[in-house]
This record gives sequence, structure tokens and C-alpha cells, in this order.
Amino acid sequence: MRIERNLAMDLVRTTESAALRCGRWMGRGDKIAADQAAVDAMRMALDSVPMDGIVVIGEGEKDEAPMLYTGERCGSGGAEMDIAVDPVEGTTLLAEGMPGAIAVVAVAERGALYNWEGFAYMDKLAVGERARGVIDIEAPVAYNIRAVARTLNKQVEDVTVVILDRPRHKDIIRQIRETGARIKLILHGDVSAGVMTAIDNAPADILMGIGGAPEAVITACALKCTGGEIQCKVWPRNDEERNLAAEKGVDLKKVYQINDLVRGDDVFFAATGITSGEFLQGVEYFSGGARTHSVVMRARSGTVRYISAHHRWDKLMRISTMPYG
Ligand code: FBP
Repeated sequence: MRIERNLAMDLVRTTESAALRCGRWMGRGDKIAADQAAVDAMRMALDSVPMDGIVVIGEGEKDEAPMLYTGERCGSGGAEMDIAVDPVEGTTLLAEGMPGAIAVVAVAERGALYNWEGFAYMDKLAVGERARGVIDIEAPVAYNIRAVARTLNKQVEDVTVVILDRPRHKDIIRQIRETGARIKLILHGDVSAGVMTAIDNAPADILMGIGGAPEAVITACALKCTGGEIQCKVWPRNDEERNLAAEKGVDLKKVYQINDLVRGDDVFFAATGITSGEFLQGVEYFSGGARTHSVVMRARSGTVRYISAHHRWDKLMRISTMPYG
């Protein structure tokens, strides 16, 4: 069933709420409290979204997460949808007062989001629309960089690759450097990094490397909307996970294309900046209120909207259902 309403316009209120609440924890060194504030606010706001939603990518299983747990129902009723939430993508960035933390949510029709079967990490390769169709996660790093350079009509030296700064990426970073391409090393936040390859005036051309599997699915939702591409492979951390893959029949050689991560065109994405980064500006608090900066996307129309919102505590406090203040 085709979803007529642009749910992303409703979803942005949930990411705004999360960002406004947890933004106050910036730099206070408490990841748990920061995350909890965002979860509480997003959970409450999700119930006003007109959908019959089930969280499929959330804060964990029911016994480990009181809210936004996998399987939790959210929404005020409507079309059957699956929800992927990351109330704070980059909890360390927020707790340490560093740039780039965002609140993010993606929604797709029921059954459309990849179930990552308990594997925490995936190897990822993502690009924006202009480089769609030229990448291959199984090919050498240099092949992909040259292919993207060619299709973007750039010198290899002008291509920017964004990658998490992790010891596991030592070899891939060496290979990128050998090509002469530029590298943007990030401490956290590969959802923003992946989405950044696919926005106007993209600050990076390619996302490479291993990051969270849930984040791969959320990134795929945004790239579905913008027309970008992501390819992934399950990345087991150790022998235990390799054995688990064998037991569950998970093919570690399988390349997950964007349509394996998120099926169909009824896909909606919203994100709000918490701490300022290249993708989104963070929450600005001022006397009596705050300003948020968000992006809202819908795959069917391909519309990408940037929303700057001015929130007034005096008005919002009179509306008890709004979890902003
Ligand atoms: P959190 O917001 O859950 O802290 O995740 C941040 C993040 O950097 C993700 O963007 C990324 O996919 C993942 O962690 C990488 O995991 P790790 O820090 O274990 O390398």
C-alpha cells in the first residue's frame, strides 16, 4: 500500500524533541544521561506520528531498554511501518562536546528494513547520486576511488574519502593515501558521514570502512531518498561471530545492496543536529527558547527539506503533549 502522507514531516518533530532535550547534556561527560534524555523525548514524540509503527532498530531488546526497544509499538495509528531510531548518533561526541552528534529516525513500510541478525558491524561503501552505479565493495580501494573520480570529473587528488578513525582501518587508510585522495577521519558518526556524500555541496565523496550495522540501515534510508548508493558486507568481530554466522546461515560474502537494506519507496528520514557539524548545525539555546536545524527526506518524491525551527518554551509548556522543554 502506497503511503500518501509525507511522514518525514511528522518525524522531524521527534528528532527536534530529542535534540532539544539532550543538547543540554553537551560536554557534560555523561553519555548515559544524554542518551536517556534523547530517548525519552523521541519516544514521547513518536506517539503523535500518524502510523502503526514497530521499532525494528532501536535501543536494544526489551529487557535492556525500557523505551524504544526492538519490537515496541509507536505512533498514533495508521499505515503499518517499521522504525529505525538513533536518538543520539554519536553519543561520545555529545558527551564530550564535540561536533557532529545528530538525532535521527527513519521509517519504511513493514518488513522493508534489513534485520541485521545480531551482527554489530558492517563494512560499508557509500556515495552520492552522481557516483551511483560505479562502485564495487569487492574491488580494491584504488579502483573505487578512481571510478568515483572519473564519474565526478575530478582528479583523484580532489576526491575526499570519509572514514572512521579506528585501528581496524589502518590498512584501508594506507591504501587510500597511496591513491593520493584526501581523507576526512571522523571520531564517530558514520550516518552523517554517509549522508554527507549525497547532499548538495557534499563535503565528502565516498564513505568507506567498518561501522555499526544499524547505522548502515539508517544511512541506506537517507541514501534511498537522495538517490545515493550504499553497499555493505557483514563484518564479524571475532571467531564467535564467525561461528554464529555459520550457524545462522549468514553469508559473510554477500554484498548487501541498498535495496537489501531498505526495500521500496515508502521510506522517510529525518535528522536534527545536536552539536554543530558539517552535515547539520547543532541546537542553539537562547533566552526563552532554542533553534534547531533539521533535514527531512522522502524517497518517493526525492524531496529533501532543510528546516530551521524556532522553539518558544513559554508556548510549548502550555502544550503538555510536546516533549520539548
Ligand atoms: P553511538 O552513537 O551509538 O555512540 O555510535 C557512534 C558510532 O560512531 C557510529 O556512527 C558508528 O557506526 C559506530 O559508532 C562505530 O562503532 P565503534 O565506535 O565501535 O567503532
